[in-house]
Amino acid sequence: MLRLTMRKLKNEVVEMVESVKPKRKRQKTRGKEEEPMLAVSLSTYHTFPDPADMAHLRTHLLSWYDLEKRELPWRTLALTEDDVNKRTYAVWVSEIMLQQTQVATVIDYYNKWMKRWPTVSDLAAATLEEVNQMWAGLGYYSRGKRLHEGAQKVVSKLGGQMPVTVDSLLRQLPGVGRYTAAAIGSIALGHVTGAVDGNVIRVLCRMRAIGADCTSPTVTETLWGLANTLVDSERPGDFNQAMMELGARICTPKAPLCNQCPVRSFCHSFRKVHVKQEKTSRKLLAKKDVKPPVFPDIEDCGTDGRCPLCPSEPWDEELGVQNFPRKPAKKPPRVERTLTCVVTQHGQEGEEVFLLMQRPDKGLLAGLWEFPSRLLEDDMLEKEHKGVLCADLSSLLGVQVIDSALQYVGDVVHVFSHIHQTYIVYTLRLRDAVTPTQTENAQWLSRSALQEAAVSTGVKKIVKLCDSAGLQSEQTSLDGKRRKSAEKKDGEKGKRGTKKTIFKSNGSKKQLSLTSFFGTARQEP
Ligand code: ADE
Repeated sequence: MLRLTMRKLKNEVVEMVESVKPKRKRQKTRGKEEEPMLAVSLSTYHTFPDPADMAHLRTHLLSWYDLEKRELPWRTLALTEDDVNKRTYAVWVSEIMLQQTQVATVIDYYNKWMKRWPTVSDLAAATLEEVNQMWAGLGYYSRGKRLHEGAQKVVSKLGGQMPVTVDSLLRQLPGVGRYTAAAIGSIALGHVTGAVDGNVIRVLCRMRAIGADCTSPTVTETLWGLANTLVDSERPGDFNQAMMELGARICTPKAPLCNQCPVRSFCHSFRKVHVKQEKTSRKLLAKKDVKPPVFPDIEDCGTDGRCPLCPSEPWDEELGVQNFPRKPAKKPPRVERTLTCVVTQHGQEGEEVFLLMQRPDKGLLAGLWEFPSRLLEDDMLEKEHKGVLCADLSSLLGVQVIDSALQYVGDVVHVFSHIHQTYIVYTLRLRDAVTPTQTENAQWLSRSALQEAAVSTGVKKIVKLCDSAGLQSEQTSLDGKRRKSAEKKDGEKGKRGTKKTIFKSNGSKKQLSLTSFFGTARQEP
């Protein structure tokens, strides 16, 4: 791991950036590669050289937090739960849920989760299916799976006791990285450690004018060093949450509320903006009777481009404090297209039931249920879609599905962090009951069961699309003229939408029939 020593230099110049350990040969597994050890001496411009200043910063920030903080269920639990094991578990759950999801979305999920599984042992006793079901809609599903795995490990290997140090949280719990271990350690256990998440990166980069790529090892280590130095030793959990709260509510990525910031007097970026404004107004007032500047004019680290923490591009006046932090350009998401078919039939009580298939238990959306689907190869033509889908469905259902049984409903776009997914949605309505050939990873679910099931947001969007198409068809059927014209069109297209034979059983040559799922057919793609 990269080690960084921040010497508090008297002069304000970066003296050296040196590698104290020869660089290792690059290994192929980039993620696991150890970074070379660096010793970097930093300009005090990027640190907090004055202990009195730091004490003031802590006081200002914590006073603001005490007045302004949101009452959040995990904060209440962290403050009121006396049992350290329950408290650590409660904060762990919150931190995992908050990893890639907004506070406002997490609250409901968190409350339901804690009501159902108030202790780590309760969670360990749940099934993965129940966990996925509870997680449905939160996204990044491997998080729920890891919590469940972690809980089972705590029960089976650690005697039901949550780890009690930052280091053991990091080592023992799957899905817990450096930030999460530090957050749990400080909030639930009172360990004096900084915690650097996305919000804290932004706050610190702005405060100390750190404009180099904030994902680089040098900046990362610098930020952890700053957070560890700044953290309040009496209230480490509150201090870390105050930094996050400041980043979430004041020092926001866009339109930051600098004038409401309790620590703006410690912020180099804020000062930079104001010095520039002062200079401009002095110029405008040109040598008239103007007061001396409020802010001293010391706006750079003074290293003439040799500083590893300064931006490589010049300050953009229009961006103001939003000049920081800087990130490398994002890779565009991979573009994928998936053929998917909503297959329905009548259930035992005559209700409509939907065919769902379970995804493999590793990889994207692991273990979740989805409509029968197939990832499209790039070179597949649109006119081949139905044929491919028919072949897949025939083999899945054990009956022969023919092209005209499928109805195109529309496209649904769902953007994951790294994939831009388009689902090309078809429907197929079975008139007679069919049992899929693979029973272990297929099930028929009623609409209400589908709403409760462990399905991804993509599946929910597909149901919505089908519902709106169904609604359109109902509206159409109320409108005599439109219905007649639709029927006429259907007639012209070979009676699409009327009852007709669509299946031949693979073995028994049994004939099944279809009534179109939706009254009106959409245009084929
Ligand atoms: N994000 C991560 N942890 C958080 C916390 N404890 N409070 C608010 N936002 C957070």
